[in-house]
Amino acid sequence: MPREPRTAPGTERKVFVKTYGCQMNVYDSQRMSDALAADGYVATETVEDADLVVLNTCHIREKAAEKVYSELGRLNALKKARAREGKQTVIGVAGCVAQAEGREIVARASAVDLVIGPQTYHRLPDAVRKALAGEKVVETDYAVEDKFERLPDPRAADVRRRGVSAFLTVQEGCDKFCTFCVVPYTRGAEVSRPVAQILAEAEKLAAAGVREITLLGQNVNAWRAAGPDGRDWGLGDLLWRLADVPGIARLRYTTSHPRDMDDDLIAAHRDLAALMPYLHLPVQAGADRILKAMNRRHTAADYLKLVERIRAARPDIALSGDFIVGFPGETDEDFEATLKIVREAGYAQAFSFKYSPRPGTPGAALDGQVEEHVKAERLDRLQALLAEQQKTFLTGLVGERIDLLLDRHGREKGQLVGRSPWLQPVIVDESLGEIGDIVPVRIVRHTGASLFGEAARDRT
Ligand code: 5AD
Ligand code: SF4
Repeated sequence: MPREPRTAPGTERKVFVKTYGCQMNVYDSQRMSDALAADGYVATETVEDADLVVLNTCHIREKAAEKVYSELGRLNALKKARAREGKQTVIGVAGCVAQAEGREIVARASAVDLVIGPQTYHRLPDAVRKALAGEKVVETDYAVEDKFERLPDPRAADVRRRGVSAFLTVQEGCDKFCTFCVVPYTRGAEVSRPVAQILAEAEKLAAAGVREITLLGQNVNAWRAAGPDGRDWGLGDLLWRLADVPGIARLRYTTSHPRDMDDDLIAAHRDLAALMPYLHLPVQAGADRILKAMNRRHTAADYLKLVERIRAARPDIALSGDFIVGFPGETDEDFEATLKIVREAGYAQAFSFKYSPRPGTPGAALDGQVEEHVKAERLDRLQALLAEQQKTFLTGLVGERIDLLLDRHGREKGQLVGRSPWLQPVIVDESLGEIGDIVPVRIVRHTGASLFGEAARDRT
């Protein structure tokens, strides 16, 4: 339930939230801001003005985690400068680095006043109050209570400010234990939010003008819960129900594991018009030996067969993926198999990374760690191939008539930007409609990852 601000007028405090990493963190930052708003905190874009700074961190690769410590160094200086002006600054670390490193963060970065893991964000306002009173707060246990039940609803004005496309977390955690990945340790076991809770949130978003919802989960297609009809629902059922929420025109979901793509979900891609033809389905690597060492629990052939079934259901689907090069033991031949699966599956876009050994994961202890320069060369080759495929996909859209959801103003005056059904930004003239409209557009050209469109007056 929304709460009234506890702060008297004129004593408003400012919060600066910086988000690293994935879309789940973007969503979590919004929920943290909502929780703090109920305590009278207003968001600021200027860190120097902030009474409270929250870094919502990512632990997925070493580089991501290290960025946090360099930012904390800068914040330490800022905190001291503000203290000289008589201003108190609370510095908090949230997210997966907080969960993984806990108290160590306070030891390593003395500027930090509070550390809070993703399972306890509903306790953030309380933690801030304790920190203001001089306590060093570390909250990294797995809360037994449901944080979603306790987090306040976002206010309609905040939803409107965030735009017509919104994230909604339906599932958290992961039971897959890929041997390279920290997620099962930082986000815990797979948990699905109940249908009623998800629907209530979707309805609130829609009432505030949201037209497109992206369902989030570390393993979103593993979502399962009791349906209102008494059946056990999977993600396909949930998508059908959400498509009935008045105002919601478009649905997406991310990230999926190949093992959890069930028939109902694939059928939804064929039959449910609101479900957009885009699927982020990471394969990670192409050699079966490496997939096995990664504990992916599928082969390259399983993956390709799955992609074929999905394409049979929805021929125009844009496939997206994640790839890791240089997993321990990866030979040149194994890497060639990754290039091969990319050629065979065909991606509209993808993310690719050098393997980064993460403390506590089985992969970090394996023999055969690959040299940095080998990883770098492989990544270059893979990215060149993926860039080529992306360009082919974009070129194929030129001349097409599409429905575009206008979602923001463009960088240049007079421009609006929308998202194509396949998720690319499309730039059009502002005369085409208002933000939130879905308008027919013909794609006329592309540069880089952006497409340009004009009003589609002619028939298809
Ligand atoms: N090293 C490199 N990339 C990683 N990912 C996860 N863990 C690691 C790691 N240790 C990548 C995977 C995953 C994406 C979110 O990040 O490709 O799908
Ligand atoms: Fe990590 Fe694998 Fe779980 Fe994805 S499926 S979050 S890569 S352990």
